[in-house]
Amino acid sequence: MKILMVCLGNICRSPLAEGIMKGLAQQHGLDWEIDSAGTSGWHAGEPPDKRSIAVARKYGIDISGLQAWQFSQKDFDRFDKIFVMDAENYRDVISLARNEADKNKVELLMNLVQPGSNQAVPDPYWNDKQFEPVYQMIYQACEKFVKQHCKNN
Ligand code: 4NP
Repeated sequence: MKILMVCLGNICRSPLAEGIMKGLAQQHGLDWEIDSAGTSGWHAGEPPDKRSIAVARKYGIDISGLQAWQFSQKDFDRFDKIFVMDAENYRDVISLARNEADKNKVELLMNLVQPGSNQAVPDPYWNDKQFEPVYQMIYQACEKFVKQHCKNN
C-alpha cells in the first residue's frame, strides 16, 4: 500500500504522521510506502519543524532527514490512501481531484479512530504545547490503521 500524509506546511503534522506510520508498519512487517506532503509549498525543501523532530525523537523516531514538498494532482496516481489532518487540507486536496476514484482516496486521519467524526489534528505551529498531544493523536490513528491491516491480528 502507498500512503500519503498531508497537512498545510508539511513541516509539523504530516512528517510526524509519516514517521509514526513508517515505524508502525515496519514493526508489523507491512511492506508499505509512506510519504508526506503539504497543500502549500511555503516550506518546500525544508526539514521538519524542530519541535516535531524533538517529539518524534522522544519516541525513538528520526524524521530529521525529511524534506517538505507540495501536493499536486499527479499524486492521486502515486498513492492509494491520502490522509489529511484537518478540514482545510481536505478541501484543498479534494479541489484537485479529477474523479470519484481520486476523491475516495482522501480521508481525515482522525476518522480512523472515530469514523465520521471529522475531528482535526490541530495545527501546532503556533503552540509549542500542542506537539505532544498532536503526536499522541496521530499515533492512535496510525496504530488503528496498522492493526486493521495486520496479518497477525
Ligand atoms: P503543518 O503546520 O501544516 O502541520 O506543517 C504548519 C506549518 C507552517 C505554517 C502553518 C502550519 N505556516 O503558516 O507557515
